Amino acid sequence: MGRNHVRTYAKLKDAKLVAVVDIDPKAAALAQEYGIPFVSDYRELLGKDQVDAVSIVVPTPLHHRIGLDFIKKGVHCLIEKPIASEVDEAEELIAEAERQGVVFTVGHIERFNPMIQKLKKLIDNKEIGEITSIITRRVGGFPTVEPKTDVIVDLAVHDIDIISYLLGRQPKHIYGHGSKTIHTKKLDSAELLLDYGPASGFVQANWITPVKVRTIAVTGSAGYVEGNYITQELTYYKHNMQRHNSGFKAFVSKFGEPEKYHISEEPQEPLALELQAFLTKIKGGPVQLVEPRDARDALAVVLKAIRDTLNEEISEAASIRKQPHKKMNRIKV
Ligand SMILES: NC(=O)c1ccc[n+]([C@@H]2O[C@H](COP(=O)([O-])OP(=O)(O)OC[C@H]3O[C@@H](n4cnc5c(N)ncnc54)[C@H](O)[C@@H]3O)[C@@H](O)[C@H]2O)c1
Repeated sequence: MGRNHVRTYAKLKDAKLVAVVDIDPKAAALAQEYGIPFVSDYRELLGKDQVDAVSIVVPTPLHHRIGLDFIKKGVHCLIEKPIASEVDEAEELIAEAERQGVVFTVGHIERFNPMIQKLKKLIDNKEIGEITSIITRRVGGFPTVEPKTDVIVDLAVHDIDIISYLLGRQPKHIYGHGSKTIHTKKLDSAELLLDYGPASGFVQANWITPVKVRTIAVTGSAGYVEGNYITQELTYYKHNMQRHNSGFKAFVSKFGEPEKYHISEEPQEPLALELQAFLTKIKGGPVQLVEPRDARDALAVVLKAIRDTLNEEISEAASIRKQPHKKMNRIKV
């Protein structure tokens, strides 16, 4: 993912890349590709006189330590998702960023997917009515680089953040189920049911489906919308349940063929939009970044799901305490 940040910053006119940092000397080739210095210890770059801003794209257990070191030196930080391994680490990052007055955001990249932005407008404008459910699928094959966290921490956290963002609230309860199907140590398949009170969310995330699927479906009292994160297309079906119809034919056609709108534009790279927003915010521009508190809340939900429901499967990266296994347990968040 760090390679993607470098590629994207290199194209943004507001950014001047200072260095690539990695403990792995192989990453020097990336720095060379972009004609910038390679540094093997991030502490060499700590300080406002060295860098104005940093993307922290290291394994999740290191987000807290490296993020805190940069924030303490007054450097603006974008930390990749999830914000940290534990909620108290997230709290510490947030508090320190506020103390230092730096811009701090988290790489919940799907917020910058234009499809999600359009969906958010449809929901906020009440075009779908009162939302009753949001169903997401984020499934595909096993990653080429072995994951360091469970699929819930790595993938489902995107969807939990998006569902909470779209609904504008946090879930009250979670019901979850997960399994280790191909991967021997970590959960590679999970389904989560989130109770948001008037609405529910359902997340399927796995690394075992042979085809990559990234979809979202929103049902409301005034319509139904399907979105595709990859094509960035939306299909909106307008509710047509009229109580009175002229006859059986009209009744059948009204139910079978609702008004349908296809919303599609030239796709834009969410990472480019996210990094540009980060830079614009640093310059004082009026953009909406992902609030670190939202990222903390999404982390709290995934950790609850793992701790209390899927707890036989311990994520080492998330340093989760072992408890007896309970399937489909109800958890208060
Ligand atoms: N937003 C997204 O869609 C998205 C996608 C993929 C990954 N991520 C996140 O990005 C982060 C990195 O994931 P990845 O898949 O790129 O992992 P990765 O293991 O492929 O890469 C991590 C890199 O960090 C380097 N590193 C480790 N310790 C370091 C240190 N102390 N100092 C400097 N470099 C160090 C490693 O050598 C490696 O090159 C994770 O938090 C992950 O959740 C986000």
